[in-house]
Amino acid sequence: MTAVDDAPIQTTDAPTMHGALANLDEEFSYWLDTAHGEVPANLRGTFIRNGPGRQRIGDTPYGHWFDGCGMLSVFSIAEGKVHFANRYVRTPKYVKETATQQIQYRGFGTQIPGGLRKNIGRMPGNPANTNSVYHGGKLLALYEGGRPFEVDAATLETVGEYTYDGELKKSNVFSAHGHVHGPTGDWINFGTGSMGVGLKGPKLCFNIFRIKKAGTMVAKGQLPVQHFPFAHDYALSGKYAIFFINSITMGAVGKVMFGSQSIGEGVRFDDDIPMTIALVDLDTMQEVRRIETDPGAIIHFGNAYEDGDEVVVDAMFSDEFEANEALSDIFNAKALKGGEWRRYRINAATGALSFEVMTDVNSEFPTFNQHKACQENEYTFAAASVENGADSFFNGFHRADRAGNVQLHTLDPGFYGSEPLVAPASDSADDRDAYILEVVYDAFTHTSSLVIFRADDISEPVASLPLRHHLPHQFHGYWHDDILLNAARV
Ligand SMILES: [Fe+2]
Repeated sequence: MTAVDDAPIQTTDAPTMHGALANLDEEFSYWLDTAHGEVPANLRGTFIRNGPGRQRIGDTPYGHWFDGCGMLSVFSIAEGKVHFANRYVRTPKYVKETATQQIQYRGFGTQIPGGLRKNIGRMPGNPANTNSVYHGGKLLALYEGGRPFEVDAATLETVGEYTYDGELKKSNVFSAHGHVHGPTGDWINFGTGSMGVGLKGPKLCFNIFRIKKAGTMVAKGQLPVQHFPFAHDYALSGKYAIFFINSITMGAVGKVMFGSQSIGEGVRFDDDIPMTIALVDLDTMQEVRRIETDPGAIIHFGNAYEDGDEVVVDAMFSDEFEANEALSDIFNAKALKGGEWRRYRINAATGALSFEVMTDVNSEFPTFNQHKACQENEYTFAAASVENGADSFFNGFHRADRAGNVQLHTLDPGFYGSEPLVAPASDSADDRDAYILEVVYDAFTHTSSLVIFRADDISEPVASLPLRHHLPHQFHGYWHDDILLNAARV
């Protein structure tokens, strides 16, 4: 999320998105009934979503949407049937806070109740709540402020913190937005760190990690950065890891360490810091090009690929970070919008930079068919925030094709969606032959549904399957082309 509009926009009687901030404390495993249409026969695999399953412990809300405990929601789809299961990641934070029914860990925007004495010297906990990946035979729950947690994909039991045979040190953080490198099947991720200490203090960098398809970490690189940026995602093409080092700074680390303020309270968009694009060669793990441009921030990226000397990158741009205020006060937020959907062209040989704006509709959470990762793909999708008279939390999604044509699907007032995940058809290599999996919250009935659309025509769903309960608003989904969960095997 990269923008917020505090102006009242509620012009209908439709309920807002806030109902889906209620905790889902129960864990389920059951088969869904189809309320409308049919689940396509060539849709087979596992759709995993991660997000905070609870925003309160007892009567106490966390101080930021980013701080709720991670809950995996797994939709297993095969032979026209869908199985649902949800399970919390048993992080130390989840276990201790569940047992005591009190906030026991600091977070991105949460302080432990009790003042400085309770927070001094204590680092934020790891809720494992942002994204997931199944790679090298391991299912990982990801959070950018720590190491990943391994979850047994067959049972959803938490195994524990995962280190790649000790390659991820205790001091390492590992972003929630690693990307699959299409040509090799390797998985490449990064995390903010330091590369020693200089005269002015720690020399900040992005650590870059490359994990082979079989799951072994084989390469590491370091990209120096000049300030401590809010670093959430990057783009990956066949040749390059592409970092947009943004203008959002993390503020006074000392105050966070001391315990007098949370990380979120220190985060600022700084108009004096240009956004800098850095290309890292994947073969050498060395920086090969750095381009300075106007101040800005990109929270999420779509696909990237080479077109001659140029690298094409889909990205959601913003020139502010006011959304952080709304995310810190999520129970009262009136609107969360998105960024400006840009399609950048970066000339790796000359450093020339250009972009086109794909749509004037606020956009976030870009997705694409992973079978086309790092290659030219035809379709990219994104969540949309549309003024339909109701709360303008993500209430639609849209698709842009390579020529720039855009199709928008707007949900009815009172219905709220999120990231539109792309699931490839099991019998096709064409990236247009795919389905969109959208979890939709119905604020009238306080229930959620899995809604399935064809990728090439998102005007109407092909199937919808209601859950027995709501799903709290989540962040990111992952698709795997096979059934992983034991309970969903038929
Ligand atoms: Fe994200």
